[in-house]
Amino acid sequence: MSSNDMPAAPVERAKTTGLHKGDIVPGVAKVDPIIIADGIRRTFGGLTAVNVDHVEIPRNAITALIGPNGAGKTTLFNLLTGFDKPDEGKWTFDGHSLAGMGAHKVARLGQVRTFQLTKALGLLTVLENMKLGAKDQIGENIFRGMIPSLWRKQEAEIEERAIVLLKKFKLDAKSSDFAASLSGGQRKLLEMARALMSQPTLVMLDEPMAGVNPALTQSLLDHILDLKEEGMTVLFVEHDMHMVRHIADWVIVMAEGRVVAEGPPDQVMKDQAVIDAYLGSHQDVDLGVVTGRIEGDLNTAAIDLANEVKELDENIAKRKETGK
Ligand SMILES: Nc1ncnc2c1ncn2[C@@H]1O[C@H](COP(=O)(O)OP(=O)(O)OP(=O)(O)O)[C@@H](O)[C@H]1O
Ligand SMILES: [Mg+2]
Repeated sequence: MSSNDMPAAPVERAKTTGLHKGDIVPGVAKVDPIIIADGIRRTFGGLTAVNVDHVEIPRNAITALIGPNGAGKTTLFNLLTGFDKPDEGKWTFDGHSLAGMGAHKVARLGQVRTFQLTKALGLLTVLENMKLGAKDQIGENIFRGMIPSLWRKQEAEIEERAIVLLKKFKLDAKSSDFAASLSGGQRKLLEMARALMSQPTLVMLDEPMAGVNPALTQSLLDHILDLKEEGMTVLFVEHDMHMVRHIADWVIVMAEGRVVAEGPPDQVMKDQAVIDAYLGSHQDVDLGVVTGRIEGDLNTAAIDLANEVKELDENIAKRKETGK
């Protein structure tokens, strides 16, 4: 690769601060919450997958939902978006109560999601996938669908919007290719672009970076930061701590179904409850391993976390030295 092909260095964008009210504890109130959830419980047989007493998602900010495998992150996503029903609990989105509402209705209120495993429909073209993402399609309504002129006008508008988004996501050259022919990373981009077809206010992304080749990583990060700049709220699940630290304004940590910590990324990653959560099944490992006091084996998630904490500490030390 010549130096001309190297991706431009990312421009640091300002974090949104001042999102919470009062002391930072799990379940802390937000200044302007877009989602407020209370007493959400979901069990599978004897297993409690989600058991969240209270959580609020701040509006027009990027919130990361993190936690070890099996913590309940995807299950909570499924519940909040109406893809699954809780045993108990209630929650509001933008002031509307969503308990018992199906995924279709939730999407119409302006909340969309992508999936941990991409759901782009392989035997449809990229453009057809995009059109499926548009909400309120008149053609879907049997009565209005009988008025072809109305239907055609809407079709044209939808197609125009799809093309603009495909250009933005650099997928326009592929618009008539089958989605199945895209790489894993391109499929993630398509899924995100398709989610935006419904002109959402809240975008929920389940592991947007999983399986994405490093060449596409920066562009995905930029797209997520753009969503905030355009006034949307983002809630994403991610295991990549580096990404979480760089783009999240707020981090919520789940373990064993509960919210165990939350706060701005730099603060939350140093929280003992978070380190404990990541060690999880490795209770025999001394916590000194994570904090660097003791040499030892860690699972990879804990190593990532430890590295991020180390980098943070170095940055703080540097800032102290230079007085900035
Ligand atoms: N449909 C289901 N039936 C039975 N158990 C389930 C079901 N969905 C999730 N679980 C269980 O609920 C728990 C939480 O799973 P979930 O997928 O929400 O975790 P996660 O935090 O998204 O994990 P990962 O980081 O691995 O994606 C796990 O123990 C999982 O095995
Ligand atoms: Mg998951």
